[in-house]
Parts: sequence; C-alpha cells; structure tokens
Amino acid sequence: MGKKIRLDRFLAEMGRGSRAEIRQAAKKGRIQVNGRVEIRTDTKIDPDGDRVWMDGKPVQYLALEYFMLNKPQGVISATKDPRHRTVADLIDGERRRDLFPVGRLDIDTEGLLLMTNDGELAHCLLSPNKHVDKTYFARVSGRLPEDAADRMAAGMRLKDQTQVQPAGLEILKAGEEEAEVLLTIREGKFHQVKRMFEALDCRVVYLKRLSMGSLALDGRLQPGEYRRLTEEELAGLRADTGTGEKEG
Ligand code: URA
Repeated sequence: MGKKIRLDRFLAEMGRGSRAEIRQAAKKGRIQVNGRVEIRTDTKIDPDGDRVWMDGKPVQYLALEYFMLNKPQGVISATKDPRHRTVADLIDGERRRDLFPVGRLDIDTEGLLLMTNDGELAHCLLSPNKHVDKTYFARVSGRLPEDAADRMAAGMRLKDQTQVQPAGLEILKAGEEEAEVLLTIREGKFHQVKRMFEALDCRVVYLKRLSMGSLALDGRLQPGEYRRLTEEELAGLRADTGTGEKEG
C-alpha cells in the first residue's frame, strides 16, 4: 500500500480544481471513493490502492508526468508571470499543477521543451556533466567565417571571454548574408546559441530547439501544441541521463 494523502490534495494535484472547488464538488456528492460518495475532502486515501471517481469518471493518479511542448515564440519558459503567457499556461486540461519547464528557451525561441514534475530527471538533463546534447536549428544573418565549425568544435570563447564546451556545427546553407545551421551543444548557458554566433560576428534571427538527448520534437506538433511522452521516449531520456526506472 502506498503513502496516504488527503482526498482534496489528490484531486487538486490531478488538476481537478482548487481545494475550495473540490470541497464544493464533494458537498454536492460529485466525488466517490471505492464506489461510495465521499463528502469529506480531508479523508485520507491511498492514491495507488483506492479508486477515486469525480463526476462519474475515474481519476487516475500520476505521480510524475512528462509532456513534450512545441514552444511558440512570445511565451516565456516559466510557470507564472504577471505580464506574459507562460509555457505552463499552454498545457491545459487534466494535468498536475506542479509541472515546470526543463531549462529555458528565450521568449523568441521555438521548439522542444520538456514539461515535467520529475526534478531528478530535469536536473540530470540540464547538468553539463551528463553530456546530454541539445540540437538547435538556427537562421543567422551575416557571413559565417570559413572556420566556424572548427572554432565551435574546439570550444570557443564568447565576446565576454566566457569559455564554452566544444559544440557541433552542421552548415545546411551558407551565403554572403545569411546561413542556416544545426548546432549541437551540451550546456545551457544564458543565451548560449545567440552568444556563440555573436562571437563569430553573426546574429541569430530564428532559433528552434529540435532535440534534447534522444528526445526529438514531434514534427506533427504545431507551435503551442503538446503531447505526453511515450514510454519509449521516457525510457530513452532515462538512459541518456542514467536515471533509474520510477513508479509513476
Ligand atoms: N540558446 C539561446 O541563445 N537561446 C535559447 O533560447 C536557447 C539556447
């Protein structure tokens, strides 16, 4: 038997409303535990063993949740913000309230963002010691120097003298005024990709994250859309980071 928690916490964590709303729902007889109407929301239940229903539908307890979001531009990588829409606002519907983004993408960056409440996995994905590659597509203005890929592969110094680890640059198109590239980095320093191109006297005009470790952005997700990770995708991320199998 698992650890017991209050019924209102269980339902609030599973995104079924605030505690006050859940109390009201219980009073109206909308909540059942093991087939019987439960009007008290301070009742302790076993999230894994007891069967909880709300409005005639079972509520499954998920301790850990994982979503892949195609972050659109104009939205910030935070859970709350007084002025801007956040990536957490985009994941609506029935989901845990404690999801957070794994790392930050700038407001004008698009692409793959993992949203979870698994702190251990998040920590490992972001740790430079775990060497989890992040690949970005970038469109840059300016002329890329001939030795751009070599300089990035060697580990370069940014304009402010910050040293960054070696990175992989694949040039898809290069012209006199603009280039399109794939850049793979292992760290996540502030504005890192933009600053790496600034060090080459170029400017990133469009940036999209395509992958993080073995997790690739699902091309069917339009900016602003999301879906749950599959079992295989999650197993892949755990293998990337060496984090163990978990219940959830
Ligand atoms: N590097 C950047 O400069 N911006 C991002 O959003 C991500 C990586």
